[in-house]
Amino acid sequence: MADLSINIAGNRFKNPVFTASGTFGYGSEVSDLYDVNLLGGIITKTITRQPRAGNPPGRIAETTAGLLNSIGLANVGLKNFINEKIPYLQGLSTGIIVNVAGESLEDFVELVRGLDEFNIIDGFELNLSCPNVSGGLDFSTDPKLAFKVTKEVRKVTGKLVIPKLTPNVTDINAIAKAVEDGGADAVSLINTLLGMAVDIKTRRPKLGNIMGGLSGPAIKPVALARVYTVSRDVKIPVIAIGGICSTDDVLEFLITGASAVQLGTINFIDPLAPVKIIKELEEHFNRNGISSVDEIINTIQT
Ligand SMILES: Cc1cc2nc3c(=O)[nH]c(=O)nc-3n(C[C@H](O)[C@H](O)[C@H](O)COP(=O)(O)O)c2cc1C
Repeated sequence: MADLSINIAGNRFKNPVFTASGTFGYGSEVSDLYDVNLLGGIITKTITRQPRAGNPPGRIAETTAGLLNSIGLANVGLKNFINEKIPYLQGLSTGIIVNVAGESLEDFVELVRGLDEFNIIDGFELNLSCPNVSGGLDFSTDPKLAFKVTKEVRKVTGKLVIPKLTPNVTDINAIAKAVEDGGADAVSLINTLLGMAVDIKTRRPKLGNIMGGLSGPAIKPVALARVYTVSRDVKIPVIAIGGICSTDDVLEFLITGASAVQLGTINFIDPLAPVKIIKELEEHFNRNGISSVDEIINTIQT
């Protein structure tokens, strides 16, 4: 029998299939549909220090082979997350990565400091795609800022620190190397691509915020290319995200250099996809004599 388990910086996960932040709530929303303990891990919806109501509607628009969203990081905030969401997560046996975002360096540090005591949490995904109120620049577009935030967070936790990178930059490798230097255990990529859609009858943008983030099958080739270049440039594991919808997609990303994957938009298309994919992945490994995930990672022939 194939062993699907993976190791990220000393942390063991049951399998390489995680659910992506913002597409899986805080986990409990899906627990009526299937046993979420079957997942390799859950990345919870981004939380900020204070609750956020998010952007004005419409917040979602379908595009060809994709989804545009401008949710605006609507979330319950740190205090409510601890009081209302952690108790559910404490009953789970799957990996738990909490995604956090801040408008300042201090926000990131305080969020991680405030959550570090909870044993159920394996690590923190840093959503760097947030404007830095003091500097103006987005944390994820400036290598110096990305380095600094990673380094400061690293100081306050021994759990996994996983910066999540945006594709909306000229050189994503520079950001990946900066966070590696800052002490990151792994990098997640990619977040959504900046996009827009227009209603031709009203001549208004379909999103209330005018622009938003594009996700889904449309962005898979972009994500694959980013995973290919980044995984060759850093020594830390790369966790792939972007349009992953099937078992073949997962295999494509592992072969290209990813150590694990996250499923996002597919959760809205077929909520049962993650468990189907895990089962099919195991079947694929057994059928093809692959005994572990490590055997397949970065085996691309170029
Ligand atoms: C509705 C929606 C909400 C999202 N919210 C977040 C979020 O809160 N934090 C975050 O880091 N990424 C968020 N994302 C981005 C996803 O985690 C993922 O990086 C992106 O959608 C690409 O993966 P996919 O093509 O499989 O969806 C969101 C995506 C969608 C579609």
